Amino acid sequence: MRFFSLGSLNIDYVYAVDHFVSAGETLSSTNMEIFPGGKGLNQSIALARAGAKVLHGGLIGNDGAFLADILADDGVDVSRISTCDEATGHAIIQVNPQGQNCILLFPGANRALIESYVTDFLADAEENDVLLMQNETNCIDIAFKIAKKKKMQIAFNPSPFDKSIENLPLEYVDWFFCNEIEGKELFGSSNPERIADLFSERFPNAKLILTLGKHGAIYSDAKERYFQPAYVVEAVDTTAAGDTFTGYFLHTIITDNDAKKALKRATTASAIAVMFEGASVSIPTAEEVEK
Ligand code: RIB
Repeated sequence: MRFFSLGSLNIDYVYAVDHFVSAGETLSSTNMEIFPGGKGLNQSIALARAGAKVLHGGLIGNDGAFLADILADDGVDVSRISTCDEATGHAIIQVNPQGQNCILLFPGANRALIESYVTDFLADAEENDVLLMQNETNCIDIAFKIAKKKKMQIAFNPSPFDKSIENLPLEYVDWFFCNEIEGKELFGSSNPERIADLFSERFPNAKLILTLGKHGAIYSDAKERYFQPAYVVEAVDTTAAGDTFTGYFLHTIITDNDAKKALKRATTASAIAVMFEGASVSIPTAEEVEK
């Protein structure tokens, strides 16, 4: 069983700031570092570190080859990543002293996918293989339709949320990974229990994984609902905590079919990730999570 992760590859410019910059303000940062990132890349690395067999698909510009190398270092199959004329996607990330972040994205090559690329990427995918996507690329609807035809399982993280998400064939999705913001946008409520209820009404055959930051996470489907509290740790940088959670949860649930175990393992992995700077570089290995 293989995970086909079709997602963004970004260069993250991470600025340490005393507070997030406001309208009209010019602010000096206290530090700047460059990291590999993109929700797609981060989630592929989390899946691979959790123990999954992962193929990553996506586009980079001439300046992005190191992103594919980083994925390959973690054992991800990068043979289908292509280069195009657009610049590699990038993110400008402010991190405050509490470890919270603000992210400004430039999609670049991530949004230059075309239908034939997606078809080729999924050409040898088989029934029950998993397609994983986020909302940082284009061609999401095309990928969902191909995956559905092939009877693949579809996991979707509707992040960053925008109105275009409602036009996707969301009824094809088996696993939704949302945080409170995306949950509110999709279901119009800030109450996690209410979001889960509304989710099951709208998608009775799908599963929701709702992450609540330092308040924990919920797994919910039409029959079961579990809450997992978060671990109390000192957060240095929360970037990619959600991506770490997604990769670890998805690999564990697909392998063991045990939602409680998947919640616990994903919560542990993301608690470790927030204790370190950077996105994918902060994702722990399976050994570190077990320990
Ligand atoms: O989820 C974190 C990621 O969001 C960052 O790595 C950044 O690139 C943006 O895609």
